[in-house]
Amino acid sequence: MQQINGLYILDDTLSRIDFATVQAWLTTAYWCKGIAREPIERAARGSALAMGAYLEEKQVGYLRVISDKTTFGYFSDIFVDEAHRGRGLARAMVRFALEHPEFQGFRRWALTTKDAQSVYAALGFKALKDPVRWMERVPK
Ligand SMILES: CC(C)(COP(=O)(O)OP(=O)(O)OC[C@H]1O[C@@H](n2cnc3c(N)ncnc32)[C@H](O)[C@@H]1OP(=O)(O)O)[C@@H](O)C(=O)NCCC(=O)NCCS
Repeated sequence: MQQINGLYILDDTLSRIDFATVQAWLTTAYWCKGIAREPIERAARGSALAMGAYLEEKQVGYLRVISDKTTFGYFSDIFVDEAHRGRGLARAMVRFALEHPEFQGFRRWALTTKDAQSVYAALGFKALKDPVRWMERVPK
Protein backbone atom coordinates (compact mmCIF):
# COMPACT_ATOMS: atom_id res chain seq x y z
CA MET A 1 0.00 0.00 0.00
CA GLN A 2 1.16 3.50 -0.75
CA GLN A 3 -0.31 6.93 -0.09
CA ILE A 4 -0.44 9.53 -2.90
CA ASN A 5 -0.92 13.29 -2.41
CA GLY A 6 -1.88 12.61 1.23
CA LEU A 7 -5.30 11.63 -0.09
CA TYR A 8 -5.29 8.51 -2.24
CA ILE A 9 -4.20 4.98 -1.43
CA LEU A 10 -2.69 2.62 -4.00
CA ASP A 11 -3.36 -1.02 -3.13
CA ASP A 12 -2.67 -4.28 -5.02
CA THR A 13 -5.05 -6.38 -2.91
CA LEU A 14 -7.21 -8.26 -5.43
CA SER A 15 -10.13 -8.70 -3.01
CA ARG A 16 -10.38 -4.94 -2.53
CA ILE A 17 -11.16 -4.24 -6.19
CA ASP A 18 -14.69 -3.01 -6.81
CA PHE A 19 -15.40 -4.88 -10.05
CA ALA A 20 -18.82 -3.27 -10.51
CA THR A 21 -17.10 0.11 -10.71
CA VAL A 22 -14.27 -1.21 -12.89
CA GLN A 23 -16.81 -2.77 -15.28
CA ALA A 24 -18.75 0.49 -15.49
CA TRP A 25 -15.49 2.19 -16.54
CA LEU A 26 -14.06 -0.42 -18.90
CA THR A 27 -17.32 -1.03 -20.75
CA THR A 28 -16.94 2.56 -22.02
CA ALA A 29 -13.24 2.21 -22.92
CA TYR A 30 -12.25 2.27 -26.61
CA TRP A 31 -10.15 -0.93 -26.38
CA CYS A 32 -12.81 -3.13 -24.75
CA LYS A 33 -16.13 -1.37 -25.32
CA GLY A 34 -19.07 -3.34 -23.97
CA ILE A 35 -16.95 -5.76 -21.93
CA ALA A 36 -18.84 -7.71 -19.26
CA ARG A 37 -17.84 -8.14 -15.64
CA GLU A 38 -16.85 -11.84 -15.85
CA PRO A 39 -13.93 -11.43 -18.32
CA ILE A 40 -12.74 -8.38 -16.39
CA GLU A 41 -12.56 -10.40 -13.15
CA ARG A 42 -10.99 -13.41 -14.93
CA ALA A 43 -8.36 -11.16 -16.51
CA ALA A 44 -7.59 -9.60 -13.12
CA ARG A 45 -7.20 -13.02 -11.49
CA GLY A 46 -4.93 -14.14 -14.33
CA SER A 47 -2.74 -11.06 -14.16
CA ALA A 48 0.50 -10.73 -12.22
CA LEU A 49 -0.86 -7.56 -10.64
CA ALA A 50 -4.28 -5.94 -10.51
CA MET A 51 -4.45 -2.81 -8.42
CA GLY A 52 -6.64 0.10 -7.50
CA ALA A 53 -6.36 3.70 -6.43
CA TYR A 54 -8.76 4.54 -3.61
CA LEU A 55 -10.14 7.66 -1.98
CA GLU A 56 -11.19 6.34 1.41
CA GLU A 57 -13.39 3.36 0.45
CA LYS A 58 -14.18 4.54 -3.07
CA GLN A 59 -12.23 3.12 -6.00
CA VAL A 60 -11.00 5.87 -8.32
CA GLY A 61 -8.42 4.06 -10.47
CA TYR A 62 -7.55 0.66 -11.90
CA LEU A 63 -4.64 -0.97 -13.69
CA ARG A 64 -3.32 -4.46 -14.28
CA VAL A 65 -0.01 -5.99 -15.35
CA ILE A 66 0.35 -9.12 -17.48
CA SER A 67 3.76 -10.60 -16.70
CA ASP A 68 6.02 -13.61 -16.13
CA LYS A 69 7.48 -11.64 -13.17
CA THR A 70 10.98 -12.24 -14.55
CA THR A 71 11.55 -10.65 -17.97
CA PHE A 72 8.52 -8.79 -19.30
CA GLY A 73 5.51 -6.80 -18.20
CA TYR A 74 2.56 -5.42 -20.14
CA PHE A 75 0.30 -2.70 -18.75
CA SER A 76 -3.39 -3.05 -19.49
CA ASP A 77 -6.78 -1.53 -18.62
CA ILE A 78 -5.42 1.69 -17.12
CA PHE A 79 -8.37 3.83 -16.09
CA VAL A 80 -8.90 6.77 -13.73
CA ASP A 81 -12.36 7.99 -12.70
CA GLU A 82 -13.11 11.18 -14.63
CA ALA A 83 -13.53 13.27 -11.45
CA HIS A 84 -10.02 12.34 -10.30
CA ARG A 85 -8.04 12.80 -13.52
CA GLY A 86 -5.13 15.20 -13.90
CA ARG A 87 -3.87 14.62 -10.35
CA GLY A 88 -1.12 12.20 -11.21
CA LEU A 89 -3.02 9.01 -10.37
CA ALA A 90 -2.35 7.14 -13.63
CA ARG A 91 1.35 7.89 -13.41
CA ALA A 92 1.41 7.00 -9.70
CA MET A 93 -0.21 3.61 -10.40
CA VAL A 94 2.21 2.87 -13.25
CA ARG A 95 5.16 3.91 -11.07
CA PHE A 96 3.86 1.67 -8.25
CA ALA A 97 3.97 -1.31 -10.63
CA LEU A 98 7.36 -0.37 -12.13
CA GLU A 99 8.83 -0.23 -8.62
CA HIS A 100 7.05 -3.34 -7.36
CA PRO A 101 9.56 -5.76 -5.79
CA GLU A 102 8.23 -8.69 -7.86
CA PHE A 103 8.82 -6.82 -11.13
CA GLN A 104 12.52 -5.94 -10.98
CA GLY A 105 15.22 -6.77 -13.55
CA PHE A 106 12.86 -6.95 -16.54
CA ARG A 107 14.20 -6.67 -20.09
CA ARG A 108 11.14 -4.73 -21.24
CA TRP A 109 7.84 -3.14 -20.28
CA ALA A 110 5.21 -2.47 -22.93
CA LEU A 111 1.79 -0.94 -23.40
CA THR A 112 -0.40 0.31 -26.22
CA THR A 113 -2.31 3.56 -26.24
CA LYS A 114 -4.36 5.50 -28.77
CA ASP A 115 -3.78 9.00 -27.39
CA ALA A 116 -2.25 8.98 -23.88
CA GLN A 117 1.43 8.73 -24.89
CA SER A 118 2.33 11.78 -22.79
CA VAL A 119 1.11 10.09 -19.60
CA TYR A 120 3.70 7.34 -20.03
CA ALA A 121 6.52 9.28 -21.75
CA ALA A 122 7.30 10.94 -18.41
CA LEU A 123 7.99 7.46 -17.01
CA GLY A 124 10.42 6.47 -19.76
CA PHE A 125 8.07 4.87 -22.31
CA LYS A 126 8.90 5.56 -25.96
CA ALA A 127 7.46 4.59 -29.35
CA LEU A 128 8.82 1.22 -30.55
CA LYS A 129 12.44 1.60 -31.65
CA ASP A 130 12.23 -1.31 -34.05
CA PRO A 131 8.56 -1.91 -34.89
CA VAL A 132 9.30 -4.44 -37.66
CA ARG A 133 10.44 -6.88 -34.97
CA TRP A 134 7.02 -6.78 -33.34
CA MET A 135 4.17 -8.89 -34.63
CA GLU A 136 0.62 -9.37 -33.50
CA ARG A 137 -2.20 -11.75 -34.27
CA VAL A 138 -5.67 -10.41 -33.81
CA PRO A 139 -8.22 -13.26 -33.88
CA LYS A 140 -11.26 -12.55 -36.06
C1 LIG B 1 -5.44 8.37 -19.57
C2 LIG B 1 -5.77 8.40 -18.07
C3 LIG B 1 -5.54 7.03 -17.47
C4 LIG B 1 -4.85 9.42 -17.40
O1 LIG B 1 -5.12 9.42 -16.01
P1 LIG B 1 -4.70 10.66 -15.09
O2 LIG B 1 -4.70 10.18 -13.69
O3 LIG B 1 -5.54 11.84 -15.42
O4 LIG B 1 -3.22 10.94 -15.60
P2 LIG B 1 -2.07 11.63 -14.72
O5 LIG B 1 -2.71 12.70 -13.89
O6 LIG B 1 -1.23 10.63 -14.05
O7 LIG B 1 -1.20 12.24 -15.88
C5 LIG B 1 -1.40 13.57 -16.19
C6 LIG B 1 -0.56 13.96 -17.36
O8 LIG B 1 -0.90 13.17 -18.51
C7 LIG B 1 -1.57 13.98 -19.47
N1 LIG B 1 -2.72 13.23 -19.91
C8 LIG B 1 -3.68 12.72 -19.14
N2 LIG B 1 -4.59 12.07 -19.92
C9 LIG B 1 -4.17 12.19 -21.18
C10 LIG B 1 -4.68 11.74 -22.42
N3 LIG B 1 -5.81 11.02 -22.52
N4 LIG B 1 -3.99 12.04 -23.53
C11 LIG B 1 -2.87 12.77 -23.45
N5 LIG B 1 -2.33 13.22 -22.30
C12 LIG B 1 -2.98 12.93 -21.17
C13 LIG B 1 -1.94 15.25 -18.76
O9 LIG B 1 -1.97 16.33 -19.67
C14 LIG B 1 -0.82 15.38 -17.75
O10 LIG B 1 0.36 15.85 -18.37
P3 LIG B 1 1.34 16.89 -17.61
O11 LIG B 1 1.85 16.22 -16.38
O12 LIG B 1 2.40 17.13 -18.62
O13 LIG B 1 0.49 18.06 -17.29
C15 LIG B 1 -7.25 8.87 -17.84
O14 LIG B 1 -7.44 10.07 -18.56
C16 LIG B 1 -8.28 7.85 -18.26
O15 LIG B 1 -8.64 6.96 -17.50
N6 LIG B 1 -8.77 7.94 -19.51
C17 LIG B 1 -9.77 7.03 -20.03
C18 LIG B 1 -9.19 5.65 -20.26
C19 LIG B 1 -7.89 5.65 -21.02
O16 LIG B 1 -7.78 6.26 -22.09
N7 LIG B 1 -6.89 4.96 -20.45
C20 LIG B 1 -5.55 4.90 -20.97
C21 LIG B 1 -5.39 3.78 -21.88
S1 LIG B 1 -3.68 3.62 -22.38
